Amino acid sequence: MSSTLCSGRVPADLVELADRIPSMGGRQIGHFLRKAAEDAPPGTAIVEVGTWFGSGTAQLALGVRQRRAVDVAIHCYDRWQANESEVTKAKKFGVSIEPYENTLPRVMDTLQPFEVPIAFHRGEATKASWRGGVISVFVLDAAKQEHEFRQVLRTFGPSWQEGTLLVLMDYRHWMKSAQETHRFQQTFIESHPDHFIDEHLESPTSSAAFRYRQVLDFDGV
Ligand SMILES: C[S@@+](CC[C@H](N)C(=O)[O-])C[C@H]1O[C@@H](n2cnc3c(N)ncnc32)[C@H](O)[C@@H]1O
Repeated sequence: MSSTLCSGRVPADLVELADRIPSMGGRQIGHFLRKAAEDAPPGTAIVEVGTWFGSGTAQLALGVRQRRAVDVAIHCYDRWQANESEVTKAKKFGVSIEPYENTLPRVMDTLQPFEVPIAFHRGEATKASWRGGVISVFVLDAAKQEHEFRQVLRTFGPSWQEGTLLVLMDYRHWMKSAQETHRFQQTFIESHPDHFIDEHLESPTSSAAFRYRQVLDFDGV
C-alpha cells in the first residue's frame, strides 16, 4: 500500500457530506469510528461488514484522513442489493432506490470524495474471504443470527490481534426486535470474558464495542 501524506485535518465539507449519508447507525457513533480509524496501528486493516450506503465507512474514512499518513486500508463487505426494507429506509432519507438494485456504484460515488483507499467486497458475508493481514478495527453491522455470526468469526477472527477493536452495531438489536435469535452476539461475547473487554461505547443505537485481548481458537467457534 502506498503511504500518502495527509494533512491531518478534515475539511468541514467532508464532515457535512459524511453526516448527510443515509445512516442506520454509523453517523450516530461517528466520533467513535473516527477515533478508532485515526488510532489504528500503521499497516493494519479496518474491516466493515454491513456498509449499506457508507455512513459508517465515511466516518472511518474521516478518521483515516486525520492520520499523518494513509497507512491503513479500509475494506467493506456488503451484498449491496437493496431489499424492500432498505428501500423504505432509504426513502426516509429522501433517497429513491429500486428493490434489488445494485447499490454499490452509488456507494462508491458517495465515498470517492473522501480520497482514502477503500476496497469493496460485494456478496454474502457468510461466503466472504479475508487475506488482507492484521485487522485492527472490525465493524460488524450484519450477521445477527448465530450461524452467520459464527461464520463471520471464522473468516475474520484469526486476523484479529491483541488490541483489535470490535464494534458490534447489532449487539443490543435483540432488545428492539424482541427476537431471542438476534441475541447471539451478546451471548457469545459474554461467554468469553477473558477474550473481550467492554470499551464502554455510549451509543444511542444498539452498538457496543470491545477490545480483543486474548487469542481465541476460531476453528472451534
Ligand atoms: C444495518 S445495514 C448497515 C448500516 C450501516 N452500517 C450504517 O451505518 O448505515 C446492514 C447492511 O448489511 C447488509 N447485509 C446484511 N446481511 C448481510 C449478509 N449476510 N451478507 C452481506 N451483506 C449483508 C445489508 O444489505 C445492509 O446493507
